[in-house]
Amino acid sequence: MKTLVTGGAGFIGATTVQALLDAGHEVLVFDNLSKGYADAIPSQVTLVRGDVGHREQIESVLRDYRPEAVLHFAASIEAGESMKVPEKYFRNNSAATLTLLEAMLAAEGIKATGKGYNARVEAVLREALAKGLLNPQPAPQSDLLDAGKPKR
Ligand SMILES: NC(=O)c1ccc[n+]([C@@H]2O[C@H](COP(=O)([O-])OP(=O)(O)OC[C@H]3O[C@@H](n4cnc5c(N)ncnc54)[C@H](O)[C@@H]3O)[C@@H](O)[C@H]2O)c1
Repeated sequence: MKTLVTGGAGFIGATTVQALLDAGHEVLVFDNLSKGYADAIPSQVTLVRGDVGHREQIESVLRDYRPEAVLHFAASIEAGESMKVPEKYFRNNSAATLTLLEAMLAAEGIKATGKGYNARVEAVLREALAKGLLNPQPAPQSDLLDAGKPKR
């Protein structure tokens, strides 16, 4: 599967990139290198340096690369700093995630993968906003993964 990994030069992202490669998937990393390291990315993986919060940059990559899945690990994660400068965390974790999700909805390449995918992005968007905006820390990945699942 063609996958785009945001924050793929960071700790969790780089580990995930290796796991994806080991499982036979194709990977492109999108990272602004504010914290991560280009050296952490395996040599066969393309790194596009850009910011998830920059709508034109992320939408352009989505349109050009046309991933079938996006794994989003680009975030600011320092708990102490998030209490001192919460606006930086709301901007990078909440607002930038919203920008990514809007770009995914807008990009023709993603829409081409099917109606179900778009419905899932919209569900994630609704729940991420509902759960994430009260806390400057990134929402747990489990919350975001659960957000698109049908309720029992
Ligand atoms: N580290 C952990 O133990 C842990 C555990 C569970 C979940 N997580 C979550 O995984 C995610 C990544 O955490 P991490 O530990 O790998 O952090 P990290 O700081 O090592 O990696 C984050 C990466 O995102 C990049 N980045 C940050 N903002 C960006 C932006 N706006 N545009 C593009 N790239 C950007 C950084 O350059 C860096 O490479 C976070 O959401 C975190 O909450 C981390």
